[in-house]
Amino acid sequence: MRDVLLTDIFNHHIAQKYVTRSGLVHAIACAYHAFQYAKEQNVDVDSAAKAAFLHDIGHYTWYKNGNWDYDLYRQNDIHAIKGAERAHKLLIRLGENPVKAKEIALAILFHTDSYFPGGEIVRTPLQEIVKKADEKDEEPGGSHHYRQIEIERAFRILKRLDKKIDKVYGELK
Ligand SMILES: [Fe+2]
Repeated sequence: MRDVLLTDIFNHHIAQKYVTRSGLVHAIACAYHAFQYAKEQNVDVDSAAKAAFLHDIGHYTWYKNGNWDYDLYRQNDIHAIKGAERAHKLLIRLGENPVKAKEIALAILFHTDSYFPGGEIVRTPLQEIVKKADEKDEEPGGSHHYRQIEIERAFRILKRLDKKIDKVYGELK
């Protein structure tokens, strides 16, 4: 039995505010990709789906005159750091297992190299999965952040993913 479901996360106002800001469709697509990769690689499907769903929760709005300003973003962005912290706080508040919450936060912290000054990071399988899931759903010009979906539909799709995760957990017993 899992302590926190994807739909619990989705229903929380913090997720509603920040996951929606960086693109709910992108978050859901990444959660599905990460689930699939994790299942194939025998990595914890629940942590993978949650980390992928929350990976962009730390984004800030670097807009100037209504347009995304890439220079500002590149210079100032810390969305992976902010996201790791924000997701961790949210998960703990919802009653997540602290070991899992930490693992998810670290996967969010390492999901991109865009803010690293250089050098290679050695990632765990879970961290690699979240990075790959994000890259699989990326579109040129960042348009993956702008795809729209109705809230009710998003909830239904996440509920379906919760069921898939429960099924994998059930088979492990
Ligand atoms: Fe992303």
